[in-house]
Amino acid sequence: VKMRLLLLLAVATSRCLHEETQKSVRLLRPHFSQMPTRFRSSIPPLPGSHDPQPLRIQTYYTRDPVSNEAWDPEGDEGRGESRARAALRETICRIQGILAVTPVQGPLLLSRDPTQYCRAVWGDPETPNYHRCSLLNPGYKGESCLGVKIPDAHLRGYSLWPEHGLPQLIQPDGPGVPDTDFLLYVRVAHTSKCHQEAAAIAYAACCQLDSADRPLAGTIVYCARHLTSPGLSHSDIVTATLHELLHALGFSGQLFKRWRDCPSGLSAGENCSTRKQVTGRDEWGQLLLTTPTVSHSLARHLGVPGPLRGAPLEEEQGSLSSHWESRLFQGSIMTATFDGARYTRLDPITLAAFEDSGWYQVNYSAAEELLWGQGSGLEFGLVSTCRNGSSDFFCTHSGLGCHYLHLDKGSCSSDPRLEGCRMYKPLASGSECWKEENGLLPRAENPHGEIYHLHSRCFLANLTSQVLSTDKAGQSSITPTGRCYLHQCTHGGGYEVRAEGSPWVPCLPGKAVQIPGYYGLLYCPQGRLCLSNKGTNAATSATSPPTRFPTQDQLFQLSLGLTGTPGQALGKEQREELAELVLQAVVTRAGTGRCYFHSPSITTSLVFTVSMRKSPGCQGPSTATLYRSLTQTFQEKPLQVHHGGAIFTTEDSKLLTSLDHNLSMTDGRLLSTGFCLLLLILVGALGALAYHKRATLQVGPSTT
Ligand SMILES: *[C@@H]1O[C@H](CO)[C@@H](O)[C@H](O)[C@H]1NC(C)=O
Ligand SMILES: *[C@@H]1O[C@H](CO)[C@@H](O)[C@H](O)[C@H]1NC(C)=O
Ligand SMILES: *[C@@H]1O[C@H](CO)[C@@H](O)[C@H](O)[C@H]1NC(C)=O
Ligand SMILES: *[C@@H]1O[C@H](CO)[C@@H](O)[C@H](O)[C@H]1NC(C)=O
Repeated sequence: VKMRLLLLLAVATSRCLHEETQKSVRLLRPHFSQMPTRFRSSIPPLPGSHDPQPLRIQTYYTRDPVSNEAWDPEGDEGRGESRARAALRETICRIQGILAVTPVQGPLLLSRDPTQYCRAVWGDPETPNYHRCSLLNPGYKGESCLGVKIPDAHLRGYSLWPEHGLPQLIQPDGPGVPDTDFLLYVRVAHTSKCHQEAAAIAYAACCQLDSADRPLAGTIVYCARHLTSPGLSHSDIVTATLHELLHALGFSGQLFKRWRDCPSGLSAGENCSTRKQVTGRDEWGQLLLTTPTVSHSLARHLGVPGPLRGAPLEEEQGSLSSHWESRLFQGSIMTATFDGARYTRLDPITLAAFEDSGWYQVNYSAAEELLWGQGSGLEFGLVSTCRNGSSDFFCTHSGLGCHYLHLDKGSCSSDPRLEGCRMYKPLASGSECWKEENGLLPRAENPHGEIYHLHSRCFLANLTSQVLSTDKAGQSSITPTGRCYLHQCTHGGGYEVRAEGSPWVPCLPGKAVQIPGYYGLLYCPQGRLCLSNKGTNAATSATSPPTRFPTQDQLFQLSLGLTGTPGQALGKEQREELAELVLQAVVTRAGTGRCYFHSPSITTSLVFTVSMRKSPGCQGPSTATLYRSLTQTFQEKPLQVHHGGAIFTTEDSKLLTSLDHNLSMTDGRLLSTGFCLLLLILVGALGALAYHKRATLQVGPSTT
């Protein structure tokens, strides 16, 4: 009941918090006039130091003074913080693989706001210290970023200037934050905004810019209560975090006008000119983001030759827009509504926007295909065409069908952002075809032959195994509706389907097929299934369900059976000691740091178990590689451990248990992610998968 309530609220609020929070923040840039010239010197750049490098984001966690006293790791904020940490680590890893910047030279130091610490400045343009601080503000409380107090250690100092001559240093520069291009303050709290927006997972704003206006620092606030909701999976929080961070890094109505035009690429740095006009309107009055890479990227997506005038932005009442128009960008990470990680993609058009900001070099290889509207042409998503049946991304009648990704059954419905257009939205419960637990109870009647399975998808169909009795009006046909059937990809981008008890039947995209054993037809969607694997791996499909972040399940468990001399059972303490000794022997054998091994234990029956995953900062091979070579060495040469006058030897090594058996350990994608492997799948997060939310949530500051 509690869950329901939460989700209903989520549906009711469809507002994104980013704009109002960003508007409330004063964006600071360096004020060079306030610095004595001798402090202004910068370290001479090293050769090559202007080459773009992966964006280094450092996080700085802050706690509210009040809750600090009663910090409870088991409370909402404690559990929320550990979920937030796991999500942030993964999100930052992803962003680092995508955005590169000219690195900040030396430690990052943030600016102070002269209008805060200074009450008056010298006003005579003839004097050397013109416009420098002549009178301090005694009430100055330091700088903050969206409610988080910035430590003095992260800030430049400040001085009081006499009318002539050298300044009196009031506060020296802090040491700054080394190896950082963007400093992210993180707060997990139940703020009044969280309170007002029951559906907000998080919100964020940027608060400091560099001299080329690139965002240097910002804050993300996670709403503690919602963060611990069982309806949110780890991937959902990662996705919401990514959305928020992308706002803070530049995708924001408040920052669009500061984007730079860098004809000669990033290395031109401050020479880039500010793009003056980045938004406009088309002939229908639609608000557009008009920068060149974005326009080309959208044209490519819609399959239109030549560039468009721009990419539609959501019109938000009375303020600038920070989101793509929902009618054209369903499923993009930067739309204003968040339907869950499974439906959300980091699409190439959003990445193009980051290229157009002039601040980043973008690696598109991590972009995820946006299926919505793909190849649908210039007229796609217009209020004037979405209701005339010209595109099957939109539906026109009320009724049941399939969500466009075909993972879920859906009902034809609208929301305020669709402005009257309708689409099949996932049903409120049990509509996921890929979830076996949604299937019928065993031995229950299944006249439509539905199959719920990881590889099932939603198809429009009216299959039935029962002969229909003709009713009075002589009607005997059932209207096709969304049903779940098994599919498998075949060579050349085709696929086959199967209903309960039927053989595999080739499905011709765009055609209807008959299934042996059933009356009625099954309609094969075109351009939605089995797109990316032209014939190779028949097990996957363009719209694949739960493993969008393939790294997160990379958790190995190493189990070793031991045989030892003492016949009697070991006590708890002895087992702990022995576990520690075995772990030391394993680490020595591995020849790596201890950072791969977590939570060693030994059972009374002498089975040693340790989890393997690579902690951040851990140097060495991937966990999978290490796991494989380790287990091999145990087969060749058992471990021996001396303890309490006895010798313990490994007798055999048992096979790994990875959390998701569908993820093959040899999958190249998993191994290549190396250091960024994100492993934190907490048992709690797994539990959450069982619930899965299906309401339309809003992404906090952008949504929730
Ligand atoms: C900026 O432009 C000036 C004048 O064209 C040039 O001398 C300088 O090298 C440029 N700076 C960078 C970082 O490209
Ligand atoms: C882009 O990222 C991929 C991995 O995601 C990497 O293999 C490739 O080298 C990167 N390209 C550039 C130009 O950095
Ligand atoms: C829908 O409207 C568009 C634009 O008015 C038109 O080009 C298209 O042919 C229409 N399609 C149908 C099926 O009526
Ligand atoms: C299935 O739907 C098709 C098209 O709507 C219809 O012609 C056919 O009679 C239906 N079959 C059954 C068994 O209802």
